[in-house]
Amino acid sequence: MVPVYMRWIVIVFLAWGVLQHLIKLWFTLGYHKAVLYNHQPGPCRVVPGVEHGAEDITTLPNGLAFISSGLWLPGFPHGRSEVRGRILTFNYSDPESGVKELNFSEEFDRENFNPHGLSVWTDPLSGRISVLVISHQRRKDQVEVFTYDVATETLEHQETIRDELIYSGNDLLALGPDSFYLTNDVSHGARGSTLARKLETYLLLPFGNVVFYNGTQARPVAEGLVFPNGVNMSPDRRYLYVGAGFTEELRIFRRFANNSLEQIESLPLHSFVDNIEVDPQTGDLYIGLHPVIGKTPLIHYDPWDPPGAQVLRIKNAVRGPDITELFVNNGTKLQGSSVASFHKGALLIGSVFDRLLYCQVRTL
Ligand SMILES: *[C@@H]1O[C@H](CO)[C@@H](O)[C@H](O)[C@H]1NC(C)=O
Ligand SMILES: *[C@@H]1O[C@H](CO)[C@@H](O)[C@H](O)[C@H]1NC(C)=O
Ligand SMILES: *[C@@H]1O[C@H](CO)[C@@H](O)[C@H](O)[C@H]1NC(C)=O
Ligand SMILES: *[C@@H]1O[C@H](CO)[C@@H](O)[C@H](O)[C@H]1NC(C)=O
Ligand SMILES: *[C@@H]1O[C@H](CO)[C@@H](O)[C@H](O)[C@H]1NC(C)=O
Repeated sequence: MVPVYMRWIVIVFLAWGVLQHLIKLWFTLGYHKAVLYNHQPGPCRVVPGVEHGAEDITTLPNGLAFISSGLWLPGFPHGRSEVRGRILTFNYSDPESGVKELNFSEEFDRENFNPHGLSVWTDPLSGRISVLVISHQRRKDQVEVFTYDVATETLEHQETIRDELIYSGNDLLALGPDSFYLTNDVSHGARGSTLARKLETYLLLPFGNVVFYNGTQARPVAEGLVFPNGVNMSPDRRYLYVGAGFTEELRIFRRFANNSLEQIESLPLHSFVDNIEVDPQTGDLYIGLHPVIGKTPLIHYDPWDPPGAQVLRIKNAVRGPDITELFVNNGTKLQGSSVASFHKGALLIGSVFDRLLYCQVRTL
């Protein structure tokens, strides 16, 4: 027979543990930052023609940006049937022309295309441009590989990559036409139930990972992350950057010749980290973050109390980081900033389900 006081001690300890977790969750979801004061790096305007998100953006050195638009996940404010998966381009040398929608080659299943992270790889010999996009299909995730035909502005579908280890893809970084790093944000993605996904999220379980796909098969290269998100690398290809969403950090890994990783640094950023873009000339990082992730559809979206937006620039990420906040908005101009891409004094800021902003950067 357990004495009564022992039972009370156990109950008090359990209650203390639960209380501690709830307090941690409240801070992790950003509810203590409910008030955001707006600032921007120069004039910003909405780019017409984007209503259902610009979740990811990648810009080529010539100033041509590729944008994935029309991601849909349960809990999003728009209905599934209203949203159409599209890939757009934006030319930084001709910003007045706005976005152009790329057409797909005939055989591609555009109806079920649900694009999330995208990455672009240019063949150094032929100049051929490959566009790799994560697509959430019904109960499975896959990576669609296209080549971009400049003349016809068409994406020619090349192949669909599926692998046991690609199940909750968030972002990817192409190293070739069919090799890439990819983040799985949770362990219960397309193959799991909504309840399992929610439990994993609310318990902040470190079951996310980074995998490397070598053209035939994926293997895990980093594990134990809580909702890993954006992935990118330094221009010299020596370091890999991964946004660790719920732990609000930028993880920096050293890359080995066999594409394995070793973590060398973890920078606290104090907001939920989404996609990471790297300026090919300077190596500076441009990051889209969610200051109050608890107000986004990942947790709970309320149009009358919208999530805000935030963009950071990091110089010298590996040796003595210098972090500047370029943009913050309380949700009136932009909700749920997922990505920021910089080219020659201008910034495109994309969002998970909202609009696309084009800002001039005059404060740097
Ligand atoms: C971008 O715009 C510039 C200036 O109008 C033009 O010269 C260039 O060809 C455009 N690039 C693409 C890929 O359309
Ligand atoms: C897009 O591609 C389809 C099939 O290849 C073709 O039928 C259609 O005309 C194209 N649309 C545009 C706007 O080029
Ligand atoms: C790809 O990775 C798998 C599993 O790690 C390995 O068996 C295979 O040899 C690799 N293929 C290439 C082309 O490197
Ligand atoms: C990759 O290379 C590193 C360093 O040389 C080594 O420690 C590691 O075991 C290798 N990993 C694989 C999967 O071959
Ligand atoms: C957000 O900022 C705008 C512009 O300053 C202001 O008009 C609006 O009331 C603010 N909204 C909230 C919810 O704070």
